[in-house]
Amino acid sequence: MKRRIGILTSGGDCPGLNATIRGVAKACYERFGTDDLEIVGVLNGYSGLINNECAEMKPSDFSGILTRGGTIFGTKRTPYKMMQVIGEDNIDKVKAMKETYKKQKLDCLLTLGGNGTHKTSNLLANEGLNVIGLPKTIDNDIYGTDVTFGFHTSVDIATEVIDRLHTTATSHGRCLVVEIMGNKAGWLTLYSGIAGGADIIVIPEIPYDINKLCEAVERRNREKKAFSIIAVAEGAYDTDEANMKKRERAKKRAEEGITTATSRIAKQIEANTGMEARVCVPGHMLRGGSPSAYDRVLATKFGVRAAQLIAKEKYGYTVAMVDTVVKENKLEDIAGKTKFVPADGQLVKTAKDIGIAFGD
Ligand code: F6P
Repeated sequence: MKRRIGILTSGGDCPGLNATIRGVAKACYERFGTDDLEIVGVLNGYSGLINNECAEMKPSDFSGILTRGGTIFGTKRTPYKMMQVIGEDNIDKVKAMKETYKKQKLDCLLTLGGNGTHKTSNLLANEGLNVIGLPKTIDNDIYGTDVTFGFHTSVDIATEVIDRLHTTATSHGRCLVVEIMGNKAGWLTLYSGIAGGADIIVIPEIPYDINKLCEAVERRNREKKAFSIIAVAEGAYDTDEANMKKRERAKKRAEEGITTATSRIAKQIEANTGMEARVCVPGHMLRGGSPSAYDRVLATKFGVRAAQLIAKEKYGYTVAMVDTVVKENKLEDIAGKTKFVPADGQLVKTAKDIGIAFGD
């Protein structure tokens, strides 16, 4: 039986995309044989599916990419909320994607991406396409999976950033406020904050009170610890902002001339404690470069599971790690949901038990 499989990567990139693509391809070539398998790379995410931008792949294209960062197919953000909206270009995107799938004579489509990608995957599955998702994101916020590929590499990078900030913070007796990616969920900040020995961790799931953050800094000063490291998630907000709608919060911040809370926290710490504070934003460095050993193994396991699903023609699912076992979840069960850090969960409690403050 001949099979023709499309693969796309969508949303923000992350380390491990190529390792996962390789895992899927190698497992499929092994299982189905090179003569009976054709792989089509859909370029630049759903945009490539809409515009029929595809590349015919051969087995050698999947060699030498295990360690490579980014994605060999390119990626793009094509927001889910716009998928069913016909814009100025007059393109019916859902129709166009279905047409490409048909034109390319695909038997199934693998979509590597985060929450937005999975929502569109579910939409396409409901439209009758054979879709299998694979959970990618440094944010680790995909519902129903213990972990996503890319997350642990990013934790490693963010941890190194915090390690390096420690030495300079100590030399100068400063407060270093480091902004870690993660707009909705604080997993990356929490993990790297604990791993890097941050003194204060600020995440969206636990709105902060600036007075409590300052008190935590001052407590360290009283204890003769003359520096503090504060790890702040990009999407963190204070207790006042917690009562605001997203738009209202954005307006307030625009008036303040800020987009994230990080610089405001640094300024308030300087003003309230008299301690010198500096901001560090590693930004996209957290998503760059080669995947860690953990992510390479995870990507391979996920890729193999996807090949098993293709063999069983089990579509409308996304691969997941559930209670440490690689399985799959129905797309319809996870699409549109976010896995947040439980504010009273074990990891937050562990951090609090060693004296890390959260500003709550
Ligand atoms: O979704 C992953 C992520 O890195 C988030 O942590 C971050 O908020 C966002 O992407 C940044 O997106 P972009 O690369 O489009 O600026």
